[in-house]
This record gives sequence, C-alpha cells and structure tokens, in this order.
Amino acid sequence: RSFSQLHSQYQPERPSFGIAFDIDGVILRGRTPIGGSPQALRKLYADSGTLKIPFLFLTNGGGIPESKRASELSKLLGVNILPSQVVQGHSPFRSLVNRYENELVIAVGKGEPAAVMSEYGFKNVLSIDDYSSYFCNIDPLSRYKSWAIKQEVNKNSTSKEVTRRCNVLSDRVQAAFVVSDSVDWSRDIQVLCDILTTGGLPGTERSNHQPPLYFANDDLEYQAEFPSERLGMGAFRIALEAVFNRIHHSTLEYTSFGKPNPSVFKNAEEILRLQLSSYCNYQIVNNGNTGSHPFKTLYMIGDNPSVDIKGAKQAGHPWFSILTRTGVFKGKENHPEFPADLVVDTVQEAVDYILENEC
Ligand code: G3P
Ligand code: MG
Repeated sequence: RSFSQLHSQYQPERPSFGIAFDIDGVILRGRTPIGGSPQALRKLYADSGTLKIPFLFLTNGGGIPESKRASELSKLLGVNILPSQVVQGHSPFRSLVNRYENELVIAVGKGEPAAVMSEYGFKNVLSIDDYSSYFCNIDPLSRYKSWAIKQEVNKNSTSKEVTRRCNVLSDRVQAAFVVSDSVDWSRDIQVLCDILTTGGLPGTERSNHQPPLYFANDDLEYQAEFPSERLGMGAFRIALEAVFNRIHHSTLEYTSFGKPNPSVFKNAEEILRLQLSSYCNYQIVNNGNTGSHPFKTLYMIGDNPSVDIKGAKQAGHPWFSILTRTGVFKGKENHPEFPADLVVDTVQEAVDYILENEC
C-alpha cells in the first residue's frame, strides 16, 4: 500500500522535520532490536497505526532487496515499514542500470546479491558464487572449505537464464559490484583479481583495461552482535586493493557509495519530501517553487562518527546529527574528530529529544 492509501484519512499539521535512522548499532545489533528501538519507532505513528512523522532507514548494510528488508524490519520492530523507507548501501547501484543493463556483471557479498541487482533491472548478473563455479579449480582452497563442499551448487532460474544469454567462459565481465560484505574473502579476492587484471576474463592474459568496480559502502568497521566492532566492506576493500596493487602494474580503481557521501543525504531528503507530500497530500510549495524541500530540520541518528555524523555534517543544512552510544561509538563525551550536534545513550533518547523539541 502507498503512503497516500495508508494516510488518506489522516491530515495532521504538516511536520517540518524528518528522521533518518541508521540500522546497525542504532536500531539493531545483528537481528536484535536495541536501545528501545521498537518503542521509539511506535512514537512516530498515530494510535490508528498511520504514520505521523516522515522517517526512513539509511543504512550502509544490505544484501537483500529493499522490499524484503522492509518486511524483515517490520517483523523485528513491530511497525509497518514500506520499501520506500529503506535505503541500503547498494540502493544507488540502481542508477547504473542503463550503463550495464545487458552486460555481464558480477555481484559479490552475503545474502542475495544477484537478486538485489536483478530487482534493479540488471539483466545479466551472476553472483560471484555462481560465476566461480563455472571455472574449474579457480579457488584451490575450496576443497578445504567445509561450507563450500556441503553446499550443492543450486543455481536458481535467473542465473540459468543469464547463462543461456551469456557464455560465462568466453564473455568478459563488464563490471563488478560489491553489494554486501564478502563471505569468503580469499575466494572473492582471488576471483576479483582474476576479473580485474585480465579485462574481465579469468585465466586469460593480463590487460591494461580494468573493468569498473563498485562498492556499496566503505565502512572499515560496524557494530554487530559481538561486543567489539567487526570488519566491514571498507576492510575488504583495503585487503583487495593491497593484493591487487602488488600483483598488477596499475593501481586499483573503484567507486564507493553509501554514507558519508553527500549524495546519500540528498537522496534521503528527496525521499522524505516525497513521503511528506504523498502521505499527507500536501503540496510542497516554497516561494512559488514546487519541489523545494519543506523541512526545517532533518535528524540523522547514527552510531558511527566517521560515517553517520561526518555524512550529516558534510550534508549541512537542514541536517542535525545525533550520535548514540549503542554501537561503534562508546565514548563518554562527544567524538573529538567528528563531533555530533547531540550525543545520547540510545535511539529512544534521541527520538524523545526530537519529539520534545519539535512538538
Ligand atoms: O554492513 C553493515 C554496516 O556496514 C553498517 O550498517 O546500518 O550501521 O549503516 P549501518
Ligand atoms: Mg551503524
């Protein structure tokens, strides 16, 4: 259901603020809600269950399509989250579909990286698991990987269709997308180096042309269930880059998306603006210019100073940054290098502050 259907009978005073929630280390640790997140989110809805305050999730994580993530979050948090409220690290990959729509591309990472890319419209995408399985002995360590031995290569129908259209053993890979965290660093570094040093075809001669490489984020560390931070996609990028630069004559070229890039915050502003106009049926007119954003303040609630807080700071007005102590940041005072506008213990405290301030 759309926001307008959900909220057609609800015409509150137009809120002049919106909220972007980071997920890992703010809303969840692993799959466990933290910091009173379900209670905090409920305060953004009216008793009838309709949304009062525009909000979205702005996570660098991912690995499953936004629609699936929205239903997972709805179940875990007990509120109705729409797919349009979920922006993941890889969401901007959608904007590259015109360039690669019919090209053979590879998707790396946990979860369903190829399904994510197919949903964005990429027609000839294979997961690095499927792709590697066509090249005998590409990973000499695979026989020692108990999970890889046990896992019967069970190619889904999409991947079968791709291999009907493309000849995996002779067509060159035109781009590689790191959609989510690599599960098998040694295999993925090996196969990515094969693709990137040969102009897209493992086992062939070295080439000067490196196919484009895209990362969904560049997070060095993030907060999962373990008490101390875990290595993220930025750490994998460093490892791949270090190896590639030692074995190849030119340096690795790549593009990273996700926070703290300013475009992520611009996009979030636009989504919140559309949310406001669609669910409240408001015409957003500012000085006669329909389309300008109507917010006095947009709050970014995050746990990672160098990602969430740096991003919100760089984005400037109308962003206001709130740092929680439930994730990467655990300090008593503010962060010295990327100080937030406000530091609180939990997301619940952050939402209480916002609602007291705004309502
Ligand atoms: O892999 C997830 C991690 O990079 C960060 O997620 O929700 O804290 O932006 P989040
Ligand atoms: Mg986080």
